[in-house]
Amino acid sequence: MPESDIAPSSILGRLTTEFIGRNLLYYPTIPSTMERAKKAAKESAPEGTVVIAAEQTAGRGRLGRAWLSPSGSISLSLLLYPDWRHLPRLNMMASLAVAHSLEKVCGLETEIKWPNDVLIRGKKVCGILIESALRGHSVDWAIIGIGINANLDVSSISGVAATSLSGELGHTVPRSEVLQCLLGELERLYQALRRGEPLHQEWQSRLITLGRTVQAKSGDSIQEGYAEAVDEDGALLLRLPDGSLSKIAAGEVTLQP
Ligand code: BTN
Repeated sequence: MPESDIAPSSILGRLTTEFIGRNLLYYPTIPSTMERAKKAAKESAPEGTVVIAAEQTAGRGRLGRAWLSPSGSISLSLLLYPDWRHLPRLNMMASLAVAHSLEKVCGLETEIKWPNDVLIRGKKVCGILIESALRGHSVDWAIIGIGINANLDVSSISGVAATSLSGELGHTVPRSEVLQCLLGELERLYQALRRGEPLHQEWQSRLITLGRTVQAKSGDSIQEGYAEAVDEDGALLLRLPDGSLSKIAAGEVTLQP
């Protein structure tokens, strides 16, 4: 598939958004779209600026891990200037936007694993990384990085159970259509967030993490308990063996059999 299928000329034509993706920076290859988006933030680029790369050579994942994004993947970073109250909810917004887009464009059923992995049939198809800069109670900028295994063979990705859109469907997907839909969904949900509409009910209904015993790792702390629910900001509410409820805002979970 030619890389030009995700160049701005392929995306902007049928983009329905007002501001997300209207300033679109495209790179055939780049170390990481996160770094480029951070530079854009420091230069006060407009809200909604999107950096897209056909290939990343030093893609970053959560918790200091590397993220592989060879040619055929979808790698983007979105720059926002949100109100500080909305910052914790960007995570729900981004994973819901990905889930909606993969369902609409590819007809694939998705699940979300807390805090923000998007899975198909239990295997990871998308990772999300959110970085921000704060000054007291105000947010200087927030960047949502989204990596989707689109048209690629994931057998080379070790360490996690991974899948790709092409692997699931048995054919390649039109990445420009996935991107157009994704940018539209991100804008729609961001507007909903700004109007104060809650996202956690729909998000919670899609989480495969709930209703099971999990091990949650947050910083140096490891807790095992029953994943009961999430709060309005998407924090995980874990019922511990002593009956108390622990609220986990960030980290990762291992689903226990
Ligand atoms: C994870 O660990 O699950 C998060 C992966 C996030 C990867 C995306 S790809 C686009 C953006 N640029 C990066 O370097 N990382 C994020």
